[in-house]
Amino acid sequence: MKDLFEKIYADKGPLGKWADKAEGYFVFPKLEGPISNRMKFQGKEVITWSINDYLGLANHPEVRKVDAEAGIKYGSAYPMGARMMSGHTDLHEQLQNELAAFVKKEAAYLLNFGYQGMVSTVDALVSKNDVIVYDVDAHACIIDGVRLHAGKRFTYRHNDMESIEKNLMRATKMAEKTGGGILLISEGVFGMRGEQGKLKEIVALKEKFNFRLFVDDAHGFGTLGKTGAGAGEEQGVQDQIDVYFATFAKSLASTGAFIAADQEIIDYLKYNLRSQMFAKSLQMQLVEGALKRLDMLRTMPELKDKLWENVNALQDGLKERGFDIGTTQSCVTPVYLKGSIPEAMALVKDLRENHGIFCSIVVYPVIPKGLILLRLIPTASHTLKDVEETLVAFSAIREKLETGVYKRLTAAMAAEMGV
Ligand SMILES: Cc1ncc(COP(=O)(O)O)c(C=O)c1O
Repeated sequence: MKDLFEKIYADKGPLGKWADKAEGYFVFPKLEGPISNRMKFQGKEVITWSINDYLGLANHPEVRKVDAEAGIKYGSAYPMGARMMSGHTDLHEQLQNELAAFVKKEAAYLLNFGYQGMVSTVDALVSKNDVIVYDVDAHACIIDGVRLHAGKRFTYRHNDMESIEKNLMRATKMAEKTGGGILLISEGVFGMRGEQGKLKEIVALKEKFNFRLFVDDAHGFGTLGKTGAGAGEEQGVQDQIDVYFATFAKSLASTGAFIAADQEIIDYLKYNLRSQMFAKSLQMQLVEGALKRLDMLRTMPELKDKLWENVNALQDGLKERGFDIGTTQSCVTPVYLKGSIPEAMALVKDLRENHGIFCSIVVYPVIPKGLILLRLIPTASHTLKDVEETLVAFSAIREKLETGVYKRLTAAMAAEMGV
């Protein structure tokens, strides 16, 4: 019989196998200093384009004050226990009510973490006779939720209406056989490429098919829609989203998350969400902090305006310079370049060391071989000067990429990696 750890000693996994080349720099980098448009990386100042602090709240003085005061008032333990047992407070309820009102739903329920909360919500919404239909590019938390499902599931091609319809047809046939219902799951904004889920078109299919729509709007909440209520508001179909999810980890610059839906659905979830029933309640500092941040979302529309001024300046500037930014319809700004993994590594190093630009890099197997995706997240705390410097830097690195500078630099590494 094998020792359980043998496989771990032999194979560190698809990402782990690159650890010796990438750790500390490309993965697990340490950004230092207050969260803002400019932070320190390995002692040097960099413009940070990799933090989802969309509205620039992370380091806002009013937010920091409330977080600090709540810390002094409650410590980090309060309240102890799960919501159901001993961890329930008036402020948890108040935050739920305010979140529900903000996203125009009857009720909301808090989740300790978005990821676990999504997994658990998918799990609670379906039973084995039900069928799940979901986007092939769905976030890992949706995929993991679906993994818990004991019944049938179908994936559709990313944001492809023909594929959605075809799979709804298959799901309908299946559900008629099993006697179950259908849950369709989409994201409000797909975080890698920035496209909005086709919520309006999906909702129109409710005329033809009987299904419930669950939307993960992690990136849309606070950034899209007239009031910031997200992708559903932006597309005019918020009322047709049956279960709405958003995290505090992006626009609200905190930790925690929530789901919102009709009162009866939330009442059900409250008693059936295993991630909340069997885990400690969201701590008070996060609850008070979220109330403050939500208030700022409601009362300071200039934060979202500033965000979009930066988004537009960055995206328009990139397009004017001939960069391929794909089909983003959100703040998420992907820049697609052609090159190998070693070239991508050299290019990112050049960006960080010589141009003071810090952004995330995505390569195969997350995207097709031969493509490099540099992902930029503009926030309200960026300035037009940050944008301008970044555009100049991007033109410079593209020139080097296209004239083979990085290829020559990395030839030995490419041979070693076999790419
Ligand atoms: C689309 C999406 N859903 C869910 C999550 C998970 O949220 P959290 O960070 O609160 O666990 C993320 C990442 O933060 C995300 O991008």
